[in-house]
Amino acid sequence: MSLSVKQSALSACMDVSNSVVHRRSPSTICRSSFSPSLNLQNKPKRTNLSVSKPLHVSSIESFFKEKKPVIQCKAYEADKSQPIEAAGEVQSETAKRVKIGIYFATWWALNVVFNIYNKKVLNAYPYPWLTSTLSLACGSLMMLISWATRIAEAPKTDFEFWKSLFPVAVAHTIGHVAATVSMSKVAVSFTHIIKSGEPAFSVLVSRFLLGETFPPSVYLSLVPIIGGCALAAVTELNFNMTGFMGAMISNLAFVFRNIFSKKGMKGKSVSGMNYYACLSMLSLLILTPFAIAVEGPQMWVAGWEKALSEIGPQIIWWVAAQSIFYHLYNQVSYMSLDQISPLTFSVGNTMKRISVIVSSIIIFHTPVQPINALGAAIAILGTFLYSQAKA
Ligand code: 3PG
Repeated sequence: MSLSVKQSALSACMDVSNSVVHRRSPSTICRSSFSPSLNLQNKPKRTNLSVSKPLHVSSIESFFKEKKPVIQCKAYEADKSQPIEAAGEVQSETAKRVKIGIYFATWWALNVVFNIYNKKVLNAYPYPWLTSTLSLACGSLMMLISWATRIAEAPKTDFEFWKSLFPVAVAHTIGHVAATVSMSKVAVSFTHIIKSGEPAFSVLVSRFLLGETFPPSVYLSLVPIIGGCALAAVTELNFNMTGFMGAMISNLAFVFRNIFSKKGMKGKSVSGMNYYACLSMLSLLILTPFAIAVEGPQMWVAGWEKALSEIGPQIIWWVAAQSIFYHLYNQVSYMSLDQISPLTFSVGNTMKRISVIVSSIIIFHTPVQPINALGAAIAILGTFLYSQAKA
């Protein structure tokens, strides 16, 4: 019975990277399931050579097939109509799907909460450079504590790692602060409608800067993305150029972040969670001097006193919540990226935007005209067509 338990628990961890499983001891298997591999589509297929072999209960059961086992384990029963390895495959595939489903649901939920608290803070305390810095500082602190207390294992990094992380961190910093500046000027829903146009930036950058070519269906899918975003922008009741440009700059920066991440994470043994932790720390170092130069302590203190008198001590909780949830949603998204292809990730990201747009319109009572909603719907549909065209 104990073997059954071990086998089912381990199968959830082992389905991710078979090549890693082969090289490591069973005690490290769970951790290695988060090891980054952005080219996951090309993952090697599962073979029959696996360290899981001695734990396969089904092979033990097959010895006793004729006799009834003395102890029956009802928690997990393999479908004996299938070959042993195939049953294991089905089970691990199901476990993987469940795990990805949990990641996605957690990622979207955390993102919705972040967006709500972020906007509440920005409405009362409109200093996006400081709040962006605080989000990164909070995430960095959480991870340093996790490493110090051994809740999470600290990554082993070298100079090369930090060097390759630097351009990613620059792009992450620009994308983060630009999105926050945008949200300080316009409705959360509007920022996210414009941010749903990210695939268009990705194709244009890849085509014109990297010389990549795409099938005509990919270019065609950009028509509804760009058209939908444009329609939503011109019909936005509270349009603001800084808000619009912030979302556009964020799109461009995140395209570069993704391109640099792919290069930076290739072949590295740092998990998605730790990769994001290091990214936060480096981004914090980059952003802090700029935040001081653009806004500065004097403005922050004066603004804080005003916000505190208007909102009360509750604002402290809002700032803490936006910072904590910012780190958590990004951490979970990087952990998801560890498990799925970038394409599946971008579909998940688009669906995340739908949840954010809808929930923020409800919570903040954002006025939406039908033509504006139509623009948003066309843009979102375009991103789905884009992901289908790229599949
Ligand atoms: C940020 O502050 O970094 C943005 O809100 C990020 O937006 P995204 O993760 O939804 O692209």
